[in-house]
Amino acid sequence: MPLQNPERYTVTAALIYANGPIHIGHLAGCYLPADIYVRYLRLQERDVVFVSGTDEHGVPITLKARKEGTTPQEVVDKYYTQIKESFQEFGISFDIYSRTSKPAHHQVSQDFFTTLYDKGIFREEVTEQYFDEKANQFLADRYIVGTCPNCGNPNAYGDQCEKCGTSLSPDELGNPRSTLSGGQPIKRPTKNWYLPLDELQPRIKAYVDSHPEWKTNVFGQCQSWLNQGLHPRAMTRDLDWGVKVPLPDTEGKVLYVWFDAPIGYITFTKELLESRGQNWEPYWKDKGTKLVHFIGKDNIVFHCIIFPSMLMEHGNFVLADNVPANEFMNLEGDKISTSRNWAVWLHEYLRDFQGKQDVLRYALCATAPETKDSDFSWKDFQARNNNELVAILGNFVNRALVLTQKYFGGKVPPRNNLFDIDLDAIESIRLLPGQIAASLEAYRFREALSLLMDLARVGNKYLADTEPWKLIKTDESRVQTILNLSLQITANLAIVMEPFLPFTACKLYGMLNLPGYKWKDAGGIDLLSEGHRLGEAPLLFDKIEDPAIETQIQKLMDSKKANEQSAIASAAGAAPPAISAAEAKPAISFDDFTEMDIRVATILAAEAVPKTKKLLKLTLDTGLDQRTVVSGIAEHYQPGEIVGRQVCLLANLAPREIKGIMSQGMILMAEDAGGSLSFVQPDKPVSNGGTVR
Ligand code: 2FM
Ligand code: ZN
Repeated sequence: MPLQNPERYTVTAALIYANGPIHIGHLAGCYLPADIYVRYLRLQERDVVFVSGTDEHGVPITLKARKEGTTPQEVVDKYYTQIKESFQEFGISFDIYSRTSKPAHHQVSQDFFTTLYDKGIFREEVTEQYFDEKANQFLADRYIVGTCPNCGNPNAYGDQCEKCGTSLSPDELGNPRSTLSGGQPIKRPTKNWYLPLDELQPRIKAYVDSHPEWKTNVFGQCQSWLNQGLHPRAMTRDLDWGVKVPLPDTEGKVLYVWFDAPIGYITFTKELLESRGQNWEPYWKDKGTKLVHFIGKDNIVFHCIIFPSMLMEHGNFVLADNVPANEFMNLEGDKISTSRNWAVWLHEYLRDFQGKQDVLRYALCATAPETKDSDFSWKDFQARNNNELVAILGNFVNRALVLTQKYFGGKVPPRNNLFDIDLDAIESIRLLPGQIAASLEAYRFREALSLLMDLARVGNKYLADTEPWKLIKTDESRVQTILNLSLQITANLAIVMEPFLPFTACKLYGMLNLPGYKWKDAGGIDLLSEGHRLGEAPLLFDKIEDPAIETQIQKLMDSKKANEQSAIASAAGAAPPAISAAEAKPAISFDDFTEMDIRVATILAAEAVPKTKKLLKLTLDTGLDQRTVVSGIAEHYQPGEIVGRQVCLLANLAPREIKGIMSQGMILMAEDAGGSLSFVQPDKPVSNGGTVR
């Protein structure tokens, strides 16, 4: 059963791998609901810590480093910063956002391991594990792929099938292949330390069974694993990137990333509270603490079964009271995919829709995958903005404020005699905040958001029914009452919208000239006293026009086209990129490199070169001048789709005549193994003439 009247809350949001930027699926699945919940708790003046950070160990990091030709440390440094910034921009209000690569975390997880080891919890076993002879490495987790025994997915990872969510071990895969060399692995003996989940099963089952209130997707997945029977799971790996195993003679072994990562929640809580000079322990050990893990559905087994087992065996820790995992969010009817670039990246959204963070928060919450997978589409996003935020919420607030400016010089008018229609509105004001709170406490965020909009609908209907603009000539006293109550609704909206739309709430408080209220104040009709002077009343939301949406859809269509081209290339027998990459060239000096003057430029015009299939004539703004470049890209891009694109130009290449046109430079293109070309393009706008080095 859920904990009643908690004394404090420890709220965690999944430690995302620091191996790439974040997209809307991450936000909708985990971080946005967590933030809404925590903001609500803070408004309720509850004692809460909100903890997250990046998961910087494990094979996803080392694989990315191989792919980028860099080191794991450089990968995590780059993406930690980028991910943290994206969250900040979207108002995800972590109390701490830390990293598992910090020495303090290594210490805490090693101590945790040692405690379990000293208690004799682990089974130490020498087993035959897959090994890649070419790469000279054991193949744990994502270093190995094969066929999922559960759903037949031919590309399931050694630790988990991303298609059906089943947690796996490499031995369960059919037709195993190394992701390092693509070859068939052999087996070699190695020693590891196992958490005996089979023995612990009865206690884990009792724990899960004691929470029938968990969301059905979460409770159901747990029961399914328990019904299949749990297996011992190795808590160590033969890898060189991660937290070293704190035992003698374990060179080349690290803790399993799913052992150390959730311990990160504890480390970061400790880091936070120690920085405040407070004791961290009650937030993890006191029975009055409500621990809530926000995650996506692929993390359920780790948070509901493996981490609780570790905590139980360690002793003294509270277990999660709830794990309100969401399902996945698709994009335009297709699974979000990093490798296919089928995603809305947060850093790109921020560039394209400046100042509209709340619009995305709103659209994602309204379509959140709370009970089943959901879909984000740009048309729906536009409709949510134009038909709901602008037409319902913004419209009501604007009318209440503008009419008060117009009739009463921006001062809150008095409330006079009340009629049934006023009393009905007052009843809605009184009831809705409690209903919103109940939905939030039950992790039903979509429902809570819809109730919030109901309050704005109440306001709109109240104005439409009472028509103060008609009464003003004949009954000013009545208009005073109507606008007083409308403004009280507006102030209530500011309170209850804050968890969902924090930037808008802040703007609205400014417009109401109020410092901000707490949740306990919601439901009242004296939030604005008579005579209180309001602030300026700019529009709360702007319409989003079609071209902005069409640009986004076009971007996705470009990804689709590139994917189709590469699928055709693979079907035609092109070897996988890792094997077919062009031969390395001999080394050059840094001075040789700096001879090249590579500039960012914008394509101003593009046209086909007559009587050629491959050539486009481009006019470029290079920041230095406007010039013509002939480029062999006509089979990859239509002239109309590239105007306005930023590209990189080798600007000091000697001019040469091509088909009678003097070409002044060369556009840099990336070519993949299948021969498909794409522009090398800055990922943020850069002024023309910006240098590339
Ligand atoms: O799926 C992921 O991105 C994992 N890095 C989540 C870890 S959550 C927690 F356990 F730290
Ligand atoms: Zn599967």
